[in-house]
Amino acid sequence: MAKVVAGVGTSHVPAIGAAVGQGKTQEPYWKPVFEGMQALRDRLAEIRPDVCIIVYNDHASYFALDLIPTFALGVGSQFQPHDEGYGPRPVPVVKGDPQFGWHLAESLILDEFDLTLVNELTVDHGLTVPLSVAFGQPGEWPCRVIPLCVNVVQYPPPTGNRCLQLGRALRRAIDAYPEDIKVAIFGTGGLSHQLQGERAGLINASYDNVWLDQLISDPERVARISHLELLRETGSEGLECIMWLIMRGALDPHVQVAHRFYHVPVSNTAYGLLLLENG
Ligand SMILES: [Fe+2]
Repeated sequence: MAKVVAGVGTSHVPAIGAAVGQGKTQEPYWKPVFEGMQALRDRLAEIRPDVCIIVYNDHASYFALDLIPTFALGVGSQFQPHDEGYGPRPVPVVKGDPQFGWHLAESLILDEFDLTLVNELTVDHGLTVPLSVAFGQPGEWPCRVIPLCVNVVQYPPPTGNRCLQLGRALRRAIDAYPEDIKVAIFGTGGLSHQLQGERAGLINASYDNVWLDQLISDPERVARISHLELLRETGSEGLECIMWLIMRGALDPHVQVAHRFYHVPVSNTAYGLLLLENG
């Protein structure tokens, strides 16, 4: 049977991808950031997940305002990095798992989560930066990937509670999959940041860390936080953090914190990293 072996939360700051691609990870600005990722990489190298379900948002790359799915599941066999204006990130093609993807689709939709299913999909930094965080710069990614894309760009995004419940439905779907595979789930985005307007550059470290504490110990409470509170406290793009609730919902009610790291600023963003394990 399929088994959930890890939950990862990570910001998906595009500058992290650029630092990896340009060989800057040992420069003074970046060294502490990448050192903070090492324990995650070491543990994932031990766990060796077969499949990573990566919950992310598309930044008007593949999806634009002509089509805004609230939740979209990538069920294709591969996903090329999207050209975000500087050429596609120089990272391996992301290999999918159509058999598992269609199992998830069937289970989730019959469990009353009506996802958009996407056969053809290119993936932007929202998905590929978390892979770089977790696995560095391999010749090919060491796992298959199921993209789960959430609209947090165009109002209205889903509620935190809807994300938590989707995570729980995802867990039911994974537990019902008969193949003997190890599955890791990534919630990405956030933490506090705002890219434009009067409050551009906003970072709220104290709020982020309380939010992380509660995500671990009391996700129902985090799921009830309103969009307005998140916008006020974490900035307009900080709302991306609701995607971590899908990851949290797919784990047991009580989890072990295998690794936690927080660093500000990374680019103009608060960087947060969590590795949670069941039991
Ligand atoms: Fe983002």
